[in-house]
Amino acid sequence: MVLEAIRYEAGTASTPPALQILDQLQLPHRTTFLDITTCEEAHDAIKTMKVRGAPAIAIVAALALAVETGKLLTESKLPSSAADVKQRINQRLDYLKTSRPTAVNLGDAVGKLKSIAENATISADAGGIAVAQAYIVGAERMLVDDVSDNKAIGEHGARWIHANTIAGKKWQADKTQELKVLTHCNTGSAQSLATAGYGTALGVIRSLRAANSLTRAFCTETRPYNQGSRLTAYELVHDEIPATLITDSMACALLAKEGEKLAAIVVGADRVAANGDTANKIGTYSLAVLAKHHGVKFLVAAPRTTIDLATPSGEDIIIEERAPEEVTRIKGPKVTADGKLVLDQEAELISTAAVGIDVWNPAFDVTPAQLIDGVITEVGVVEKHDGKFDFGSIFGQP
Ligand code: MRU
Repeated sequence: MVLEAIRYEAGTASTPPALQILDQLQLPHRTTFLDITTCEEAHDAIKTMKVRGAPAIAIVAALALAVETGKLLTESKLPSSAADVKQRINQRLDYLKTSRPTAVNLGDAVGKLKSIAENATISADAGGIAVAQAYIVGAERMLVDDVSDNKAIGEHGARWIHANTIAGKKWQADKTQELKVLTHCNTGSAQSLATAGYGTALGVIRSLRAANSLTRAFCTETRPYNQGSRLTAYELVHDEIPATLITDSMACALLAKEGEKLAAIVVGADRVAANGDTANKIGTYSLAVLAKHHGVKFLVAAPRTTIDLATPSGEDIIIEERAPEEVTRIKGPKVTADGKLVLDQEAELISTAAVGIDVWNPAFDVTPAQLIDGVITEVGVVEKHDGKFDFGSIFGQP
């Protein structure tokens, strides 16, 4: 069985495209797909984290508007003027962009899709239909590119770990040596969860496993939203990768215990600033500090769409703050006294904090570039030179 988080079917002359997302709020215990037929539904799904993860958010937004536009097209309800269709596309994209602020992929996708609509508008004798069709092709392209980018990230990351970490070098010399990796949050994919294909940090883990070097992956629980225990653990179990779950506060003890066998900590990113400072799931910064203390390599796996050259440093990144209830409550199925999950009843909502306590719930933190050893992209691993990242060279490459 292949895990699919985004199901998309292209339209025909008479049927509009169709989009479904796997409701990640129901995982790992229930597999429920939701139809996304409008931008409002996509906006809600992104905001409430039914779909989450920087690349997946962007792709669902892009495809939701493709579905909406395709429906108008098949029903012959589109304005005939190219400028009117472009204006509608721009308005809907601006609305979708308001769903979550930190991940740059959504803003990047919005910018690129607006350019596609703009270019289609200015081409000779363009009408509304041509602009709509150009938009749909552009949105569909993003889904295809995400899948291939993830594979490439996985392969570059695995190669870098084999060549540049103590565990990797030992494994090259002796294939019985142990090589382990720790990841945080969920960076899976649409054949998995947070991207559209193979995953970013999880793509590296999958590639290491495919190379037969990875002996174990560790995933953090990732409080408060438990993307690690609910989603990454689910993907690792699904892929039959030997894996161990820890709570976030166990990471330091794990690093001390594993020593050189832990090759690297590999995380995803929501936005990498031009200087390499990286916003990712809350808790990433602590892991980077721990990695530095223990001499473990710390890697960020991210497609170029996550690198934001327009944001000079981490100080310029807006960090989303979410509802206090995500910290003070937890949701899941009941467990019977003999350990069985009760799945035929609604999930239980449990209170885990004193009523009345103030809560701070930032969804992300910023890891300073100085703590990051490399940024794994689909075109290679960018390392620092003279203590500085320079991402200029990776743009402009195919
Ligand atoms: O709040 P989330 O679950 O959307 O946060 C997700 C992360 O922080 C991921 O690490 C990041 O988006 C990269 S996903 C390939």
